[in-house]
Amino acid sequence: MFESLPDRVSVYEVSPRDGLQNETAIVPTTKKKRLLDALAASGLARIEMTSFVSPRWVPQLADADDLCALVDQRDPSVVYSALCPNEKGLERAIAGGIREIGMFVSASETHNKKNVNKTIDETLAVFEPVCVGARAAGIAVRGYVSCLWGCPYEGAIDPRRGLAVAHRLVELGCYQVSLGDTIGVGTPKQTRDIVKLFLAEFRPEQVALHLHDTRGTALANVIVGLDCGVRDFDASVGGLGGCPYAPGAAGNLATEDLVFTLHGMGVRTGVDLERLWEAGKVAESIVGRPLPSKVHQAGVRSLRS
Ligand code: HMG
Ligand code: MG
Repeated sequence: MFESLPDRVSVYEVSPRDGLQNETAIVPTTKKKRLLDALAASGLARIEMTSFVSPRWVPQLADADDLCALVDQRDPSVVYSALCPNEKGLERAIAGGIREIGMFVSASETHNKKNVNKTIDETLAVFEPVCVGARAAGIAVRGYVSCLWGCPYEGAIDPRRGLAVAHRLVELGCYQVSLGDTIGVGTPKQTRDIVKLFLAEFRPEQVALHLHDTRGTALANVIVGLDCGVRDFDASVGGLGGCPYAPGAAGNLATEDLVFTLHGMGVRTGVDLERLWEAGKVAESIVGRPLPSKVHQAGVRSLRS
C-alpha cells in the first residue's frame, strides 16, 4: 500500500447541497451564501451549491434561483455546480449562470424510483436532451451513480449494474462519474473491488468517490480508493449530508477529516485546513446543531506549531 501516492487530489465539496438538503430546518438564503463564501475562502475549488430539483420534493433547496443571483459565478477560482434532474432544471441552471450540473441516477431501481419517480431507463432518457442542451450552453456535466455499495430498499447491489449506468452517463457526456455509497454501508475490501471494476473500464479522472459516513467507514474507503488510483473525492464540511429519499443516509465524509488525513500523508488538496475548520463553524452555526466531523470537534489550532 501507498507505493504510488499522488502529489495532489481534488476535493468536491457538497455540503451546501447534500448537507442542507437533509436538514429539517430550512436555512435562509443569505446564510447559505455565508457558508459558500467561507468554503471558497478555504481554497475549495469545486463546490456543489444547490439543486434545481422540484421545490416540493426538496423544499430545503427551493431557493436555488435566488442563491445563484447572490454568487459571483465568474470567479475563476471556484466552479459552483448544482444538481439537475431534467430540462426544467437545466433552464433554471442556465438562467442562474451555472457552469456545471450534476445528473444523478441510482444503481438500484427502487431507490431511483423513490428519488426521482422514474425507472433508471426513464431517468437516463430524460438526461439525454439535458446533456445536449448543457453542451450547447457550455455547461459541464458530471454524473452520480447512487447506492452502489448497497440500497436501503433492495439491500446488496451488484456493482456491475452501476457500471452499466456509469457507461450510459459517460456516453451522454458526463466528464466524471461520482460513485455513491449513499447510505454509508461500504467496507474497504468491497470498495477495492468496486473501484477496480470501474478503473478497469474508465480513466482515473472519470471516477470520483462520494462516500457517506453512516457507519464510520468512509475515510477507510477513501484510503483504499486513493491506493487504487482514485484522485477525486466528494466531501461535506462538518460531515453534513444525506439523501432525503434514502432512509439511513447520514452525513457525508467530512471535508475536514479528508483534508487532515490527506495532508498528513503528504497529498496536497489546495485547501487551507484552518480556514476549512472555520467554514465548518459557519456550517454548524447555520444548522444549529453540533456536527459530527472528528477534526471539527478536535480543532486544528494545536497543529500549527
Ligand atoms: P415528478 O413529480 O415526477 O415530476 O418529480 P414532474 O415532471 O411530474 O413534475 C411535477 C411538478 O414538479 C411540476 O410542478 C413540475 O413543474 C415541477 P406542478 O405543475 O405540479 O406545479 N418540477 C420542477 N420544478 C422545479 N425544478 C425542476 C422541476 N421538475 C419538475 N427541475 C422530479 C420528478 C425529478 C422533479 C422529483 O422527483 C425531484 O425533484 N426529485 C429530486 C430528489 C432529490 O433531490 N433527491 C436528493 C438528491 S440525490 C442524492 O442526494 C444522492 C447523491 O448525493 C449521491 C449519493 O449520495 O449517492 C447525489
Ligand atoms: Mg450524497
